[in-house]
Amino acid sequence: MRKYLVIGNPVEHSLSPLLHNFWIKKYNLNAFYEKQLLEKKDIEKILSDMRVSKIHGINVTVPFKNTVIPFLDQLSDTAQETQSVNTIFKRQNKLVGDNTDVYGFSEAVKLTNFDPANKSVLILGAGGVVPSVLLALKNMGVDQITLSNRTKEKAINLKKNFPFLKVIDWGETIKSDLIINATSIGIKQNDEIKLDYTKLDGQLFYDVIYNPPKTQFLENAKNSGKKTENGKNMFIYQAMKAFQTWHGIKPQINDEVRDLIK
Ligand code: ATR
Repeated sequence: MRKYLVIGNPVEHSLSPLLHNFWIKKYNLNAFYEKQLLEKKDIEKILSDMRVSKIHGINVTVPFKNTVIPFLDQLSDTAQETQSVNTIFKRQNKLVGDNTDVYGFSEAVKLTNFDPANKSVLILGAGGVVPSVLLALKNMGVDQITLSNRTKEKAINLKKNFPFLKVIDWGETIKSDLIINATSIGIKQNDEIKLDYTKLDGQLFYDVIYNPPKTQFLENAKNSGKKTENGKNMFIYQAMKAFQTWHGIKPQINDEVRDLIK
């Protein structure tokens, strides 16, 4: 039986096992998918298990998307550009780090019918998912990206790989067509980003969080008559691409799949 894993810390909340095992069953594959809580020191061992085919594929979540890189043999172009790996597979006995979050985010935005080409974007937060969001937006031809993070230093660090980024202070806003919450604010009830929503001109408000499905950020935007989208499709599409890489099958995304992710 082929073994697949998602590794992270924390990892308890991950819905990847639910989704991957659903598809594994649907396509009758001789495999299973589990979550594994890791410490940084355990990464080398888990990857050596993959080298000897005790494990056949790994998804990586916070906070290890960058930490795994030195233990891999190759990176895909997207993993290289983002310095962020969420999917590991083996090709010709080499461990390859890939990034399917970029694809997941692009597909999710396409599904909203908002075209970011030549538009301005404001990103709130500088957490693990942001490099992927930045590369996806760059590939979609955005005009300007401004980023604001509580710890400004982290925002400035992102400029090393994304020099076109404009950084503003936390609490400051700027009129933008697309506004993205990439902070973890909103996961807990009553968590709220203090923003003057009337000043934000946005056409689309996007939250990378999908649980809860409607954060206060999206609720406030919706109440101001804005179009909103949560992170559910990004999650489903990044998983789809990882599944396709490992099993050679493009799994179907339908209402049954969307209903799984609550
Ligand atoms: P990581 O930072 O480990 O990648 P993450 O969940 O991907 O974790 O990112 C958390 C993001 O939410 C960060 O941008 C964080 O801001 P800091 O860089 O200043 O820590 C942001 N965040 C979390 N709680 C916040 C709060 N109460 N106020 C403002 N920003 C917050």
